[in-house]
Amino acid sequence: MKNILAPSLLAADFGHLSEELDAVTRAGAEYLHLDVMDGLFVPSISFGIPVIASLRKQSSLFFDVHLMIEEPDRYLAAFSEAGADLITVHAEAVRHLDRTVAEIHRLGKKAGVALNPATPLSVLDWVLPQLDMVLIMSVNPGFGGQKYITYCDEKIRQLREKCTALGLNTDIEVDGGVGPANAERILRAGANILVAGSAVFGENTEERARTMMKLLRKQEQKA
Ligand code: DX5
Ligand code: ZN
Repeated sequence: MKNILAPSLLAADFGHLSEELDAVTRAGAEYLHLDVMDGLFVPSISFGIPVIASLRKQSSLFFDVHLMIEEPDRYLAAFSEAGADLITVHAEAVRHLDRTVAEIHRLGKKAGVALNPATPLSVLDWVLPQLDMVLIMSVNPGFGGQKYITYCDEKIRQLREKCTALGLNTDIEVDGGVGPANAERILRAGANILVAGSAVFGENTEERARTMMKLLRKQEQKA
């Protein structure tokens, strides 16, 4: 399975977004992880539709939009028009998950569902075959720069097993506290998309993104 780096824009310098995007693009990242926070589902507020629409004009990266917002159904069409390629909603924020996933597909986008650390995998049992991606949160969402919660390794392993048992090639993305020190272990557990915010953006963004890319490629060869 192909491994993908999804740098999280949340940790970028918002005054120099074009340069930040160029740096991760040169390093070979294919996804851009965009964390949308509403101050309700999570304590913090980040950025929203106009920012994504502006970035869309400058970048051909795959836009991986992570909606940490209550009742995301209200905004699916707007994020789709703004340029999202994949829209991920939180299972905890949606009342009719089956309908929401169908709506994302109707808009012509890939659909992901995110689970907070404490949310069991079983909430996905009936919709798993319809998903393009599952996002396993490895921190409690809301902020960048937090520490990876180690029980998530086992959660990733169990999810990969479930997918394999069903004959599904579903992408498994892991988000929160991911960096060069734990990337290989998380990939070995069964993830294939790694979100990295503070491990990539900051000083020497391009070089740090390249380090992560090398780890991803190395693990691909081993698998
Ligand atoms: C957390 C966000 C993450 C965050 C990851 O609520 O969903 O995408 O930006 O940041 P790091 O990689 O710094 O933990
Ligand atoms: Zn995220």
